[in-house]
Amino acid sequence: MSIGMDRPSGRVLVTGALGQIGTELVEALREKHGHKAVIATDIRESKGCQILDVMDKEGIEKLVHGENITEIYHLAALLSATGEKNPELCWKINVIGLENVISAAKKNNARLFSPSSIAVFGPDCPKIAPQITPLNPTTVYGKTKVVGEQLAITSGIDMRGIRYPGLISYKAPAGGGTTDYAVEIFHAALENGHYDCFVREDTRLPMMYMDDAIRATLELMDFPLEDLSEARGGYNISGCSFTAKALVESIQRHLPHFTCTFNPDIRQTYADSWPDEIQDDVAYNEWGWKANFDLDKIVDDMLENLKISERVATRSSGGSGDGSF
Ligand code: NAD
Ligand code: SER
Repeated sequence: MSIGMDRPSGRVLVTGALGQIGTELVEALREKHGHKAVIATDIRESKGCQILDVMDKEGIEKLVHGENITEIYHLAALLSATGEKNPELCWKINVIGLENVISAAKKNNARLFSPSSIAVFGPDCPKIAPQITPLNPTTVYGKTKVVGEQLAITSGIDMRGIRYPGLISYKAPAGGGTTDYAVEIFHAALENGHYDCFVREDTRLPMMYMDDAIRATLELMDFPLEDLSEARGGYNISGCSFTAKALVESIQRHLPHFTCTFNPDIRQTYADSWPDEIQDDVAYNEWGWKANFDLDKIVDDMLENLKISERVATRSSGGSGDGSF
């Protein structure tokens, strides 16, 4: 069957479903397709989520065939900070794991979404990163994402990706990335009134609110394949860019006594190798991408929702809070 050919629609598979993105993407996909149509899987155990290790090639193929999967959202990966601590494992999970998923998708004529990242860019990239520019990342994580983008074009299947910026959300913790400070800071501000940040205050990175990232993912996957260019391996999408200092100041609008110290560690070097901003004209022109959340709107929503979660947790000790579905 040729790429993009009409296929009867079956069920949806999500790998790495218990992570920061999966926790919200599964909810959104179940709202769209119905609860039973979406199979959530992860290497970790949790209610409503099946165990699936993306290193288990046969296991993936069996599940994809047996459950008639025709759409896959492949989120299982190691992120930049965890990946640099164990580069071999990062390569295995991010590249071999992806190849296993591609092979299963190919055999069942399934479409595949596999995220890329701003980590594909290296220090030679302009500070405002264009869609097309040499990709020379310094991290092994970034290199795995470049391979992923290339596989999207050479695999012979309908495979798409987005170069997500650092994602900010309140429903699940961030999973071991360099941009985690922009999530941790909210919890620390509410719980302790203080955060010790692991990047310098002038560190400026592209960021995005999870609502925008989930909407971008669904919008891209809804778009006809024939209208997308080879940028579909990893579209630049922009949310907003801000320094760590600007993030602190925005939080202080609500919590004037909040304080932050800055003690850069190894993650500073990864942050310094990435661009400050993202140019997303190609995504806008091809499939109409536009973000809704700026810095202050993200901060308002994060603090409001985390305060609500705190109140609910205090009232009832029965909440799961473990990423279960
Ligand atoms: P995360 O670390 O929060 O979640 C990843 C999930 O994968 C975890 O639940 C983990 O248990 C699971 N996993 C790990 N090894 C596995 C294996 N062998 N088999 C099956 N599952 C396994 O990550 P995330 O933030 O949800 O990111 C999802 C994807 O999006 C990744 O490809 C990541 O590189 C990409 N991305 C994320 C961000 C971000 O800021 N969160 C930014 C850019 C790109
Ligand atoms: N947010 C991710 C990380 O910091 C970027 O892919 O690793």
